[in-house]
This record gives sequence, structure tokens and C-alpha cells, in this order.
Amino acid sequence: MSDTFDIGLGNNFPEIREKADSDFISFWEQQAKNLHWFSPWERVLNWNPPFARWFEGGTINASYNALDVHQEQKSQKTAIFWEGENGDSKVLTYAELFESVKKLANVLVSLGVKKGDRVTIYLPMIPELPISMLACARIGATHTVIFSGFSATSIKDRVVDSHSKVIITADGGYRRGKVVPLKEIIDESISELDFIEHVLVVKRTNSEIQMNSVDSYYDELMEKSSAQHLAVSLESTHPLFILYTSGTTGKPKGVLHGTGGYLTHLYSTYKWAFDIKDSDVYFCTADIGWVTGHSYVVYAPLLHGATQVMYEGAPDFPDASRIWNILQKYHVSIFYTTPTALRMFMKFGDDIPNSFDLSKIRLLGSVGEPINPEVWRWYYRTIGKEKCPIIDTWWQTETGGMLISALPGIETIPLKPGSGTKPIPGIQMSVVDENGNDVKRGTKGYLIIRNQWPGMLQTLWGDDEKYKTVYWSKYENCYYPGDYALEDEDGYFWLLGRADDVLKVAGHRIGTAELESCIVSHTDVAESAVCGIADDVKGEVIISFVVLKQNTTKDTKSLESEIIQKIREDIGAIATPKEIHFVSKLPKTRSGKIMRRLLKAIASNEKIGDISTLEDGTAISEIQTAFDELQKSIKENSN
Ligand code: PRX
Repeated sequence: MSDTFDIGLGNNFPEIREKADSDFISFWEQQAKNLHWFSPWERVLNWNPPFARWFEGGTINASYNALDVHQEQKSQKTAIFWEGENGDSKVLTYAELFESVKKLANVLVSLGVKKGDRVTIYLPMIPELPISMLACARIGATHTVIFSGFSATSIKDRVVDSHSKVIITADGGYRRGKVVPLKEIIDESISELDFIEHVLVVKRTNSEIQMNSVDSYYDELMEKSSAQHLAVSLESTHPLFILYTSGTTGKPKGVLHGTGGYLTHLYSTYKWAFDIKDSDVYFCTADIGWVTGHSYVVYAPLLHGATQVMYEGAPDFPDASRIWNILQKYHVSIFYTTPTALRMFMKFGDDIPNSFDLSKIRLLGSVGEPINPEVWRWYYRTIGKEKCPIIDTWWQTETGGMLISALPGIETIPLKPGSGTKPIPGIQMSVVDENGNDVKRGTKGYLIIRNQWPGMLQTLWGDDEKYKTVYWSKYENCYYPGDYALEDEDGYFWLLGRADDVLKVAGHRIGTAELESCIVSHTDVAESAVCGIADDVKGEVIISFVVLKQNTTKDTKSLESEIIQKIREDIGAIATPKEIHFVSKLPKTRSGKIMRRLLKAIASNEKIGDISTLEDGTAISEIQTAFDELQKSIKENSN
């Protein structure tokens, strides 16, 4: 299927897979022993399908495992080299991080935050973000971090759904040299909510902001706070965080993760995948507002007492050399980024990375979307200088941590550009057809997971039914991630994109239904459908089709900007379509379903013949007519 690269780090621990294959439950039990537990579990896995309770009866604290455990040996070790977008920088040792987290834990307690309460965090990539998460974890409050690119309406939905009474934000955040008014956005989002008790404001940009009765400055409270705090002993299943993510229907849902299982999964996968050593400097470019940042910026590296770089801004700001500059400056040895970022770097040309000293790099990683083989090879050659393995890690917000990846920390297997290689130890995965039968090797089908793993989500916040239907109803007793995949002759998995109505734009998940209902909520819009088409850099971009109400008098130019404005306000700029086509009607099957594949074909300039399978028994002539009509309608409306 493709060329292979025999490159590893010389590790060879076959017994890990052997143990996991023979009994995944006792295997994970062994792995859990790498963490610090206040008291041991009574039961490794209580599986009450489809609800998993890992290490039931055991008590643990995530913040304790990230900080307290390192104070004897590593208190002076750098935990975070922080690089601000505007050139500011800070170095935080494990002792300093520990002190700030304990102080903030006391602040939160003084504000009345109790075990089980939810705290919303809306911060840029500054040290106060992991500090806030760890302070919540320390007292047993469940954090819900919102990516700082989301709009006031999105925040409001999430704050209401999680019923967070306390919010931590900043006066502003830097993005491409501009200040994003985070506090103002928070004020707007909570203006109609009567249950907000406190808003803590970190000073980042020193912008003029309005301080309201619920607001306090973070620094002022921290100054007065004591640095004595004992981490609270929590049930292993205690909810560590809620992270909202887009699905196929409705508004984003809160993925709920527990503590002991999640940490076990992260501890092991970080070690296996990154072969982390005390001397490493690790840099993951993910924003903590997404799951990669939660798992592999905050929790996994800290569990291992690793040193990492945390960067606040855009990877190409102020210019295309920024990232390589950071890698050189901090002697980064492990680099973990996204295919979207790599495609962008590749476009900028080899001269830029070639002019930096990247000789310390020993391992490269990719996450979030399929990596094109040619981008993989560029990464391997130009950044890794043909001496570093690349791990292509497949996982999801819901899986908590990696489920497919090459694992140079435990074995050397040939790498194939574009394949994540094999499932991690302890995971039973298959590719099946619509009826749940295994498809032949080399055939595309749906990826499913047949057993449980410790990082798996516990449920969707406040919606067990939805959790059952979304993930566990398509195939009996199997987890359905919603991805197409193929398993090749060598047992390697190739991830082939989403099988549902979820788009992946620059690696970010966007639900078509959420976007469509936002567009339809514009007063002049009667109907809308969106689809994703391939893009050289972002992987996928959004194209939307809009049917206007009959009596609309506005011109399409102003409607287009109004719709875009509405999307930015309701969701955030990441959901902005690349093109909006105004059409007289949407192509539908006889039963009224929108023919999405047809929309996609038109938007990608493909021919009707390229749509291989027809949906819903609709005749080819009807599809052809719909296709012609739609194309005509687009032309008419664009003249
Ligand atoms: O479609 C898969 C894609 O990203 C989805 C999960 O998105 P999210 O929850 O935002 O988490 C992203 C970071 C883990 C998956 O269902 N995906 C993720 N990693 C890969 C991938 N597709 C192909 N290859 C990957 N390595």
C-alpha cells in the first residue's frame, strides 16, 4: 500500500502487549499502580454496559499526581517554559507550579467552590490555565475549559449546561497581535444568568475592562492566599472534567471524564508513545481548550514530571519561522502537532526550518486528523532529518487518550506514512460493515472498539440516553467512534475520516446540524445545508448552501456577511464557511433527506458520476436533475 520506514528508538518490551492481550483488565490494573493512590480500589472495572467505572473504591487526586509526587525529586525542575505570543516568557518549576495551584485551590475554597461543583475556565494559553485546572482537580471541582476562540453564545450554552457558578477568565488574550476581549465576551455570555457567583480575572493584556460585582482580580486573591493545601482524596470515578464537543445533532455535548481511569490511560500512553525521559523537552502545539491540550499538555506530561514548552499564540505569528524558533530556543526533543499546522509549514518551504537548529528532536507526533502521506514524508525528512520516528496518534475527546499509535517507547515496528499503525495494548478494535460483520482486510468500513479502556468517557454530562445512542446503539456492546477505517494485510489501521455529519476543519470538530441551525436562525433564511470539502491546508473547509425566504429583499452580499457574523456570534470564527451559495432549493431524496454527497460533489467541482452510491432509492435521473438545478441555481445567484 505504501513505503515503510523502519525507524524506532531501540525499545523492545513485547511482554507489554502479551500481558494486555491475555487479560486487559489485570493489565490496566498493573498500569494503574504507576500512579499514587490514597487508598486502593476494590474492583478494577465495574462494567455495567455501556457505563464503565474504573478502579472503583480507589481514591486518588489528579493534582496530587501531577505535582505533589514530584516535590521531593524534581521541585527545581522546569515544568513549563512558557512563551507568550508578544515575546513575554516565563519559566515555572514544579515547585512554583505547585505553590500557585495550592494558592488557587485555597482561593476557590474561599469563594465557596465545593467538591463536585463545576468551574468554567475561559483563558488563553497562559500558565494560569493549567494552574486553574489543577486547582479545581485539587479540591474535587470539575473543570470545564472553553476554547478561547468560542463566542459568547457558545460560552453561555456551556455555562448553563454545566451550571458553573464560578468562571475564571482573563482581561484579554493575544491572537495574531490583536487583543481578544475575553472578559467582555464573558460579561456578554453571563449577562442574563443569575447563578454566577464569581468571575476571576487574570491580567494578561492590561486592557481596560469593566469590573462588575461578581468580578475579582485573580492576582489580588492569590496574593492573600495561603500556599498550604492538602489535595482532597477523591473517588477514582470522580468527574475530573467536562469538555464540550460537537456531534451529529444539536448543540455540543459535554463529554465527562473521570479521574483514576483517565490518568492511568494518560500515564501509560505518554510513556509508550513518547518514550518520555527526564532529559526531554516536550512541545505539543495543541490549545488546552481542546482534548489534546487537556490530556497531552496538562495531565500526561505533569504525571511524568516532564519539562514542556507551552506557547500562547498562532504558530505562524509574527512570521513563518515562529515555531522553529521556539523549538531551537528551548532545545525541544519531542514535538507533537497537527496535520493542518504541518501542511501550512510545508507550504512556507524548507528554507525556514532548515535555517534553525532542530538537532535535538528525537521524536515527532501528529494528531487530530488524517495526515497525508506526502506531509508525513516532509515531516520525516525536513523536520526529523530522517532520524526520528513519527507517531500518528488516533483518538477522540471521548476516548480520553490515544487508542491507535506507533509506540516507540515499547517497540519498533515499521511506520507507514498515513497509517496510525496499531491499537495500543489492551484495545480490541475492528473494521466492520453496516451490519457489524468484520470486513475483509483492505476494505473500508466503520471502526469499532470491542472492549473497554480506562480513558473512556463516563457519559455525556446530564444525558445518559444520548451517550447510549451516540456511541453504543449502532453496534451491540461496541463503542462506535464515528470514523471510517481500513485494516491492511499487516493489521495496520488507516483512518479515513468521519463517517457521520461531523466536519474536521483545521482539526477542529464542527457539527453540521449545529451550524445549519445557526444559519437557519437568521431571519431571512428558510433552509440551509453545509458540507465539508477537501482543502490543501485545513484538511477540510465548510461550504454552505442557503435557501432564502421568498419575501427577502436584501441583496446576497449583505446577507452573506450577516450570516457570517451570526455564525461568529453563535459559535465562533472556526465555524465560518469558506463559501456560501444561495440556491432556490436543496436537493432532497424522496423521503426528504438532503443529498449531502451531491452537495459535496458540486462544491468540490466533481461530476455526478463520481457519486457512487445513491441514497434512499432515489432514481439517478432525479439526482441528475437535482444536480443540474443546483448548479444552475448557483450560477444564477452568483451573477
Ligand atoms: O475523525 C477522527 C479525527 O478526529 C476525531 C476526534 O476529534 P476530537 O474529539 O476533536 O479529538 C481530536 C484530538 C484527539 C476522530 O474521530 N482524528 C483524530 N486523530 C486522528 C484523526 N483522524 C485520523 N488520524 C488521526 N491521527
